[in-house]
Amino acid sequence: MEFIDSLKQKASTNKKRIVLPEGLEERTLQAANTILQEGFADVILIGNPTEMKAKASELGLTNIDNAEIVDPENHAKMDAYADMMVEIRKTKGLTKEEALKLIKDPLYLSVMMIKAGDADGEVAGADNSTGDVLRPAFQYVKTAPGISVVSGAFIMILKDKEFGNDGMMVFADCAVHPNPTAEELAEIAVATGRTTQAIAGFEPKIAMLSFSTKGSAKHEMVDKVVKATKLAQEKAPDLKIEGELQSDAAIIPAIGQKKAPGSEIAGQANVLVFPTLETGNIAYKLVQRMAGAEAIGPILQGMAAPINDLSRGCSVSDIVNLVAITANQAAGTL
Ligand code: ACO
Repeated sequence: MEFIDSLKQKASTNKKRIVLPEGLEERTLQAANTILQEGFADVILIGNPTEMKAKASELGLTNIDNAEIVDPENHAKMDAYADMMVEIRKTKGLTKEEALKLIKDPLYLSVMMIKAGDADGEVAGADNSTGDVLRPAFQYVKTAPGISVVSGAFIMILKDKEFGNDGMMVFADCAVHPNPTAEELAEIAVATGRTTQAIAGFEPKIAMLSFSTKGSAKHEMVDKVVKATKLAQEKAPDLKIEGELQSDAAIIPAIGQKKAPGSEIAGQANVLVFPTLETGNIAYKLVQRMAGAEAIGPILQGMAAPINDLSRGCSVSDIVNLVAITANQAAGTL
């Protein structure tokens, strides 16, 4: 696909080290093999080296020989990483003994490698829940300056090119923060606008979704979206943000004109910001499965280092694609 090919091309000009903590997971190993073959990132795999090599050979994955393999049970920097963990979590009372246990967990080891400068980014989640992938990242890598909430965006590539920007749309938050406040939702909207500009590569027209369009319904859930829209517009006057809009008013021009006459965004939206994680997660999966859209992501927004999470139902190419995005984020080309 053209979009991902261009990301791979960019990543290969400034190769970054991406750590894959689920090194013994079959799709991850296959993805690592493809990435090394295509040569757009260096790969660090975490897992027992003997077991991993046996698995790679059984699957005929010859490029795995070019990966750096890190054994979580026996690793030269274990003690140094544990000291860093104690320092970062001292106000939370983390002891060295606890840190030495945690550092054997590949998901903690990966984030500490990033924190120590031994890796540039991480992709995980083929075998672990989103919560288990994100918690170590939140605790040790934390949010980027000026950001209080991490969220997850999907680039949706639709078959019907009439929607969004020639069939490309960005949906958020579909992955992380269950029930944002109005302030947090405003932050998510702005972050999604920036992700759209940097990664999807088009000018965002952001619709703040609700079950009401411009006051058609009264409810505290609608009030939250109205407030978030105002805050987001104040935070980022350069972005086109409009709300509250129902999803049909956001994406269908005739309905947009009828329900929100004169709006620049109603009917033209290419970025959909959902009021809760429930709505965002359900929506992206329905569009992916029922409309046959390609869903690229989740791309985590607001983390201090590029760490991205996969759905456990991911395919090998989903992993390869997310590594291409992560490598670009690490290189600062996004
Ligand atoms: N952004 C930044 N930091 C956060 C966020 C956030 N969105 N949420 C929690 N944190 C921080 C907290 O401040 C806390 O930091 P501290 O320990 O330094 O004080 C730390 O993370 C842990 O916070 P908890 O509230 O204890 O976090 P918890 O682990 O309970 O929940 C989590 C965080 C795991 C992300 C939770 O919100 C969650 O499970 N979200 C849903 C994820 C999910 O299941 N998504 C759907 C599947 S994804 C898919 O389908 C693609």
